[in-house]
Amino acid sequence: MSHPTLHASTHPLVAHKLAILRDKTTEPKKFRELVRELTWLLGYEAMADLATRQVPIETPLEPMTGAEVEPRVGLVPVLRAGLGMVDAMLELIPTAEVWHIGLYRDERTLKPVEYYNKLPDAATVQLCLILDPMLATGGSSAATVDILKAWGAARIKQVSLIAAPEGVTTLSAAHPDVDIHVAALDSHLNERGYIVPGLGDAGDRQFGTFAGPASEPGHEPSDETAEVVRRLQRDLRG
Ligand code: PRP
Ligand code: URA
Repeated sequence: MSHPTLHASTHPLVAHKLAILRDKTTEPKKFRELVRELTWLLGYEAMADLATRQVPIETPLEPMTGAEVEPRVGLVPVLRAGLGMVDAMLELIPTAEVWHIGLYRDERTLKPVEYYNKLPDAATVQLCLILDPMLATGGSSAATVDILKAWGAARIKQVSLIAAPEGVTTLSAAHPDVDIHVAALDSHLNERGYIVPGLGDAGDRQFGTFAGPASEPGHEPSDETAEVVRRLQRDLRG
């Protein structure tokens, strides 16, 4: 699958860490560490084209011209699972502002439901990086981009660990100007809207909350959920 806006990392360290992250025996503590390390590597790639301006500095030996990142950057973690990506990004760009958006995916319709948004009236940053480990149907991401564009964000990038082709197609059809940075593009969505092979539920695996029925193997999808996935898969085939 090739999409002009999709950037799937080819870095060997990303591939190595992602394999451990996916492994079902990886415990939440290790899982959180890997989310952080992978975010660091993906953030480095996603910010490779940031504009800089020249600044005069003085080393202990002589004056010289250095560089300073120009745009004001906003990190937009999508609650809950995006929270685990914030610290690594702040290490890379400590001056970034963090604006949280709360969305959960309705298990039946797979549609995003907004429950937290404290953005001020006007955008305070020029570049927004949406942080969410999973880009599945693309519904949560497209909704977040809608919110950020209405806020006035000039430029938006999505940073995710794993994407499904269905989600990339949905997001890039709705928002062709949004770059999508991922560690891997996986095979497809299953009937419950989970990414295959994926890693399961990124929120549950980070926070140790394994009681949700949708994340239990063998949980039967509703007809409505399976039909939503089939429609996305028809859209993907064109
Ligand atoms: C997960 C994930 C994304 C969304 C992706 O969140 O973190 O936000 O699903 O799915 P989509 O592309 O089909 O919209 P979830 O709804 O499980 O909430 P959580 O992070 O609170 O667990
Ligand atoms: N959300 C997740 O956490 N995992 C998936 O595979 C899909 C949505």
